[in-house]
Amino acid sequence: MWKKWFGKTEQYVIADNQLDKDKLPRHTAIIMDGNGRWAKAKGMPRVFGHRAGVESLRKIVRTASNLELEVLTVYAFSTENWKRPAEEVNLLMDLFSTYLTADIDELDENNVQIRFIGQIQDLSTTLCRKFQDAQARTAKNTGLVFNAAINYGGRAEMLCAMKAIALDVQSGNLPVEMITENSIQQHLYTADLPDVDLLIRPSGDFRISNFLLWQSAYAELWFTDVNWPDFTPEYFLQALHDFQQRDRRFGGLKIK
Ligand code: IPE
Ligand code: IPE
Ligand code: MG
Repeated sequence: MWKKWFGKTEQYVIADNQLDKDKLPRHTAIIMDGNGRWAKAKGMPRVFGHRAGVESLRKIVRTASNLELEVLTVYAFSTENWKRPAEEVNLLMDLFSTYLTADIDELDENNVQIRFIGQIQDLSTTLCRKFQDAQARTAKNTGLVFNAAINYGGRAEMLCAMKAIALDVQSGNLPVEMITENSIQQHLYTADLPDVDLLIRPSGDFRISNFLLWQSAYAELWFTDVNWPDFTPEYFLQALHDFQQRDRRFGGLKIK
């Protein structure tokens, strides 16, 4: 049996013959998409879908922690999502806040290290402070690294990295010929983390939507028509299982 989540609610016990513990992805990323369509199909407002999406998130984080995954990154709000009506944006910000209030103790008790990736300094001062506090509180935890991508854009992240590198060059500290792929990697939010191995997108769309562009260069992609609020741990396990059947060559040849 896998280690159980010590939370109060559901406990997922996953038979260890389903997955090879030695071949789990080091970094799994999820585009939590389809909340609006899920709600619409039920004749409910989009907000209803976002609330249901939080429940899915809760279960998937528990499962990832139970499986002793190294890194889970979820896409919660993109730099492009500001195009949505203010009412929806505000509701999403409120949901991030209430989720954190409700779950921070449980995450901390389970040794989860929560991080926020994205331009959180552009969010409200209260929310930004709350994210920073949660990050500081769990910084020494050694279990799952749980990245919540909020006000995150892959292009914005790379732009920041390039500006930082340009400043080093301008100040004479970095000769241009010394810039390597590693210099760019070192300036990303995920500087100390492995590249994405598995990228999951529910809801039937087949695109990356500006998520972890650099880090996903060799990610295995996994899609499902299921909308995020219906994405149960069983789908997550299926994605992990399918990942384990993939032949990753990284541009080389298959090793027989
Ligand atoms: C994902 O669900 C949540 C966010 C982008 C914040 P959507 O709100 O994009 O749901 P759909 O894609 O419209 O169904
Ligand atoms: C991607 O979903 C962003 C998040 C899930 C936070 P979107 O719904 O914003 O993506 P598009 O617009 O369908 O590409
Ligand atoms: Mg969407």
